[in-house]
Amino acid sequence: MITFILNNKTIKTDTHPGTTLLDFIRYTENLPGTKIGCREGDCGACTVLEGTLVDGKVKYKSIVSCLTPLGNAHGKHIVTIEGVNLKDLSPIQKAMVDDSATQCGFCTPGFVMSFTGHGLAEEKSTYNKAIAAISGNICRCTGYKSVEKAADTINELLKLKDIKDPIKWMVENNFLPHYFLEIGSRLKEIEVNPTFKNSSKIIAGGTDLMVQKPEEIANADLNLLYNRTDLKAIDEKNNSIQIGSGVNATEIMNSSIIQKHIPDIASYFKLISSQQIRNMGTIAGNFVNASPIADLSIIFLALNASIILKESNNKRNIPLRNFFLDYKKLDLKDGEFIEYISVPTPKKNTKFNFEKVSKRTHLDIASVNSAIHVTLNEDIIEECSISAGGVSAIPKYLKETSDYLQGKKITNGTIIKANEILQQEITPISDVRGSADYKRLLLRQLFFAHFIKICPTSITLKELLS
Ligand SMILES: Cc1cc2nc3c(=O)[nH]c(=O)nc-3n(C[C@H](O)[C@H](O)[C@H](O)COP(=O)(O)OP(=O)(O)OC[C@H]3O[C@@H](n4cnc5c(N)ncnc54)[C@H](O)[C@@H]3O)c2cc1C
Ligand code: FES
Ligand code: FES
Repeated sequence: MITFILNNKTIKTDTHPGTTLLDFIRYTENLPGTKIGCREGDCGACTVLEGTLVDGKVKYKSIVSCLTPLGNAHGKHIVTIEGVNLKDLSPIQKAMVDDSATQCGFCTPGFVMSFTGHGLAEEKSTYNKAIAAISGNICRCTGYKSVEKAADTINELLKLKDIKDPIKWMVENNFLPHYFLEIGSRLKEIEVNPTFKNSSKIIAGGTDLMVQKPEEIANADLNLLYNRTDLKAIDEKNNSIQIGSGVNATEIMNSSIIQKHIPDIASYFKLISSQQIRNMGTIAGNFVNASPIADLSIIFLALNASIILKESNNKRNIPLRNFFLDYKKLDLKDGEFIEYISVPTPKKNTKFNFEKVSKRTHLDIASVNSAIHVTLNEDIIEECSISAGGVSAIPKYLKETSDYLQGKKITNGTIIKANEILQQEITPISDVRGSADYKRLLLRQLFFAHFIKICPTSITLKELLS
């Protein structure tokens, strides 16, 4: 039985766990405020909030309901636009109206939910964070200037919030109805780790499977990993960082452990999907979907990650670079799942960089992406790992190029020579994201960009291109 709170109502249902939350909200619960746009996670019209009880407090985040399997709602507080309505417009709804950020209104519930999620975050509001909160919301009417104005108004109002208890502050200031104050104690009564029937169809965040195979998921026996708290930790021990397979992209970019070693992680992750999708999609889901341009696969290949695979009581530890065998073929046996990811703790004199080029800067998949991880002893490369996506049938670890650079002094000549080796290692094909020649050129540019960023005093673009 899937049990959760939808707005102010406790739901107990035996509806199939692979049904979309969106359909359940609209067609079973008859709440039409949550809109259906693309059903692919791209437009944000179906955005709702998901509240989870963490250490006795409810933490909210925005998600897209079109890609959420109903089973993932178990034990949560799901909030639709109807659930934030008060007698009068909330300050967020009022800002959308007063700043002319709503015209036909189709996108408006999604924007209101994303802004409300921003308000509920336990962090200080800034204009940039308010804008980031709506990175997954599209509007075809307003041209966005008025939405930006509303974001500015909302940010000014939210600057006053109490970040220790944003729920109470939002209720007291008429952003949210009073019932929000009772949700924590109501969630405590729901058993959070239900045993769903174990089967081979694993689903985590659903952001890949619900796009690729929605009909299959709607009928399959599902092994839902999303609510498994044992797969959610990020720890640092024994000279390695261990990331549970159920950790999502937002949790990685906000992790103090990851930020300590890769200070720019948030700026790289902003290039990956949208806030809603990052709030859902997991690291293991990114690896197993085996897309040749999967951003997390590229980043973690360069970080020399290993994956720990589990089947009953058996475990296997394999380097991520050996996991990808051929196009969409993985070294993953029936019954196995990724339990966690292990990354050697980066050394002090290590530098990391990630580059991604896509047709749109935000909410787009890469044409070509690349990551580098180097350990330097002054201007000598002691260790080097480079990866690239969109230039091979698999997320590619560039072994020959990485090996060549090991022990070399960083000069423009070394990098030019390394690019020649790199070009031998890749096999791009022409497709909708560009011709094979274009992708070769693009990867050369990204490869040069790595070194211009890492060693700005030794490497110059002028010399590299001369
Ligand atoms: C709008 C949109 C934008 C996107 N943008 C990007 C982007 O910019 N960059 C990018 O890289 N990706 C992007 N994606 C793809 C997707 O969001 C990510 O790949 C995400 O990390 C997938 O994780 P998930 O948990 O949602 O996977 P799911 O859909 O739950 O699962 C994907 C696959 O992984 C398997 N799986 C999940 N967990 C495990 C496990 N622990 N062990 C074994 N198998 C497992 C499932 O069986 C399935 O085969 C985007 C998706 C959408 C919808
Ligand atoms: S309907 Fe477009 S993101 Fe869900
Ligand atoms: S107001 Fe019409 S789509 Fe945004």
